[in-house]
Amino acid sequence: MAYTPEMRELIKKVEETRPSRVDNPFPRMTPEEKTEVLNNYHPDYIEEGFQPLRCGVNKGDRVPLELAALLEAESFLTHYRPDLNNFHYDVDVLVVGGGGAGAAAALEAHNEGVKVLLTTKLRFGDANTMMAQGGIQAADNSNDSPTIHYLDVLGGGGFSNLPALVKALVTDAPLTIKWLEEMGAMFDKYPDGTMITNHGGGTSRKRMHAALDYTGAEIMRTLREEVFNRGIEILEFNPAVELLMDDEGNAAGAVLYNLETEELLVVRAKTVILTTGGSGRLHFQSFPTTNHYGATGDGLVMGYRAGAHLAFMDTIQYHPTGAAYPPQLLGLLVTEKVRGLGAMFLNIKGEQFAYSLETRDVASSAIIRECRERKLGITTPTGIPGVWLDSPLIELIQGEGAIEKQLPAMLRQFQRFDIDIRKDPILIYPTLHYQNGGLLIDENGCSSVNNLYVAGENAGGIHGRNRLMGNSLLDILVFGRRAGRHAAGKSKNIKAAQILSLEHVDTYNKQLNETGVKSGITSPQLLPHYTHRED
Ligand code: FUM
Repeated sequence: MAYTPEMRELIKKVEETRPSRVDNPFPRMTPEEKTEVLNNYHPDYIEEGFQPLRCGVNKGDRVPLELAALLEAESFLTHYRPDLNNFHYDVDVLVVGGGGAGAAAALEAHNEGVKVLLTTKLRFGDANTMMAQGGIQAADNSNDSPTIHYLDVLGGGGFSNLPALVKALVTDAPLTIKWLEEMGAMFDKYPDGTMITNHGGGTSRKRMHAALDYTGAEIMRTLREEVFNRGIEILEFNPAVELLMDDEGNAAGAVLYNLETEELLVVRAKTVILTTGGSGRLHFQSFPTTNHYGATGDGLVMGYRAGAHLAFMDTIQYHPTGAAYPPQLLGLLVTEKVRGLGAMFLNIKGEQFAYSLETRDVASSAIIRECRERKLGITTPTGIPGVWLDSPLIELIQGEGAIEKQLPAMLRQFQRFDIDIRKDPILIYPTLHYQNGGLLIDENGCSSVNNLYVAGENAGGIHGRNRLMGNSLLDILVFGRRAGRHAAGKSKNIKAAQILSLEHVDTYNKQLNETGVKSGITSPQLLPHYTHRED
């Protein structure tokens, strides 16, 4: 659906101010201005969007309503259970989740010579990793260092991140890029072979390594091929629905639910790594999302029921540039790389109202303020608000042809709807992108439950209250690898559980009853609430 004549009229204002903006970015906000805009406009500060948990180890902590409903729901296995003495699989390391973190964990565990099984809800690679566009951070340029990267991460996270996790993230970053390259990942390079690096929001150095605007797909391709080449066993369409514990309360496997046959499968494992990803498909506060179809927070639910602590689950990331138009693309990612290359935010008058590379929490809040309070947004024919992201500016700053060369996927995505982002700006509005928190981990991906590891988006603590662009593709690999190595090493010193139990589920259900919580639903949810099921 091309822009309407009314929208085309408004675009003229953007065109009028464009030449004067080439070397004239909007000033950055002061710390006081940032606090003000966050407190007043960021969805994390809307009290009605949250509730305190009434059960479990984080009782009293505030989490989004939609997640609380799942954390306080009865287990999927309340009324229907498999025979726990009959194992379908018996392995050393069970990896639950088939995105980047799961693949990285499986590869490192396999390196240690132990028996690994990777099980995943949809297809191997159906994950937010695949959908990541703009890049992966690593401080490997001569004007940069892990120390500077560390400071950027802390600043971006509101100085709330857990320092040991940030240290692990930034120190492993250059090694991670090298590891990917050795496996065949193709990053953008200059003719002399040096890496092309760009800025992202909140970075003080150019350290974003990219594969055009499909970096995540290139990384997932590389990892998937390596997992296939190694012959690691993979189960697709087999989500885990509950963890299994031994008689001492250690993680000892999982129950899987075969989506095709509807059978329950029992996996005994010496260690378990949860890499089930994010929860964007829970649509907190009714936001659209950039997330893949299976992002329904399963790992959070299973880990929490087993007693693992959550951290920072009251902070969600809204990516400033979700597509607001055409309606077919609503909420889909318009990569931050578009701003990294020079595009700016503009209101209905064609005026800048925020520095384009503020951190995501601040940039999203400024857009919401522009539309809600100042009433200077653009309303689409379907009633969705938005502001302009002036993509044609990239061609003025970087030279003609820059968009086709550096943002080919983005260009095509909009061309399908007769919008040429080289000539016309993009209409954007914040979209639900990432859960900043998750299950609390240490530097090796250990959760607070023995023998249970967590890596990727369902881990919490690394990014504090706001993640910077390109640190998610990084963290899934850094902590996926660390968890894989540690879990495999540990499995060598563990005797396989003689008794597998779901007692923790009964204990949790009892707590729910005692507290009077009756949600009437079961969890994990597995698929979005609007999935059509033939029962
Ligand atoms: O904007 C983006 O390309 C997203 C990257 C990220 O979330 O790290």
